[in-house]
Amino acid sequence: MAFEIRPLTSSGFGAELIGLDPTLALDEPTFQAVQQAWFDHSILVFRGLDMTPEQHIAFTRRLGPLHIMVPLQYNLDGYPEIFVVGNAEEGGKAVGMRRAGMGFHSDGEDKAIPNAGSFLYGVIVPPEGGDTIFADMYAAWNALPEATRAKLSGRRARFSRVELHHVHYPHLPALTEQQKLDRPDVWHPIARKHPRSGRTALYIGRWAVEIEGMPAEEGKPLIETLCAHAQKPEFLYRHRWQPGDGVLWDNRCTQHCATPFDEERYTRRMHRTTLEGEVPLLASAAAVPQGVSV
Ligand code: OGA
Ligand code: MN
Repeated sequence: MAFEIRPLTSSGFGAELIGLDPTLALDEPTFQAVQQAWFDHSILVFRGLDMTPEQHIAFTRRLGPLHIMVPLQYNLDGYPEIFVVGNAEEGGKAVGMRRAGMGFHSDGEDKAIPNAGSFLYGVIVPPEGGDTIFADMYAAWNALPEATRAKLSGRRARFSRVELHHVHYPHLPALTEQQKLDRPDVWHPIARKHPRSGRTALYIGRWAVEIEGMPAEEGKPLIETLCAHAQKPEFLYRHRWQPGDGVLWDNRCTQHCATPFDEERYTRRMHRTTLEGEVPLLASAAAVPQGVSV
């Protein structure tokens, strides 16, 4: 099936795919072309989808093994592969996780094996607010000053759910001692090599608390600087949701951030499938591009 790839930004970060079957039941050559577009553009936007949970799961599974989110309480009844995000209720009971993903992050960055990708489907979306902002972490890495890239090359950052859970999820109960044991701190390379594209991305996010081999007085402000750098407007794409939109993102080379909406007035119900990932690869120093320094 022929389809059009329309870039969403002048840099080519993000692309909308036009002309695909709204159930995403694609023949193999079409699927291969879609997957290649994903590696080329990091974020894919589909409009006017009409997928059952089975179709949503079936399409995502072609990209790799699926991850089942824990705790299971936010997963769709009968479809543990679908994680529900938003304030929707059924019979007076919340069906999804409210206020998920506020603050720039990539999914699973606080786990030893972060998620490779996520595919979020807008089932019910508010008429205003609730946009999702995406950041191009390849471009963010390439635009860092040479000296900063040299300082970061070969180093890892510590990501800590335990230290920051109450900061990012003030409306949720504190972690229990068992949950803390289940979510130990993890170390990931800051210059991360994408296993499919071979390109280097800046890998940092809202759970990062320490840089290997740096005292806190140096590491913490550097993390803040890197996070602020990644949020510069030239690296961003803002998605304004319409019902039936799907956004497939690559957590290895992008970040994303939810934005608020009027939760008293509006319902937002998003279904997310999540791809299992791999241990993040450290980019070799040779991967630092030539001539891109500031
Ligand atoms: C997510 C997430 C952002 C949003 O589902 O991983 O961060 O805007 N969602 O819902
Ligand atoms: Mn997220």
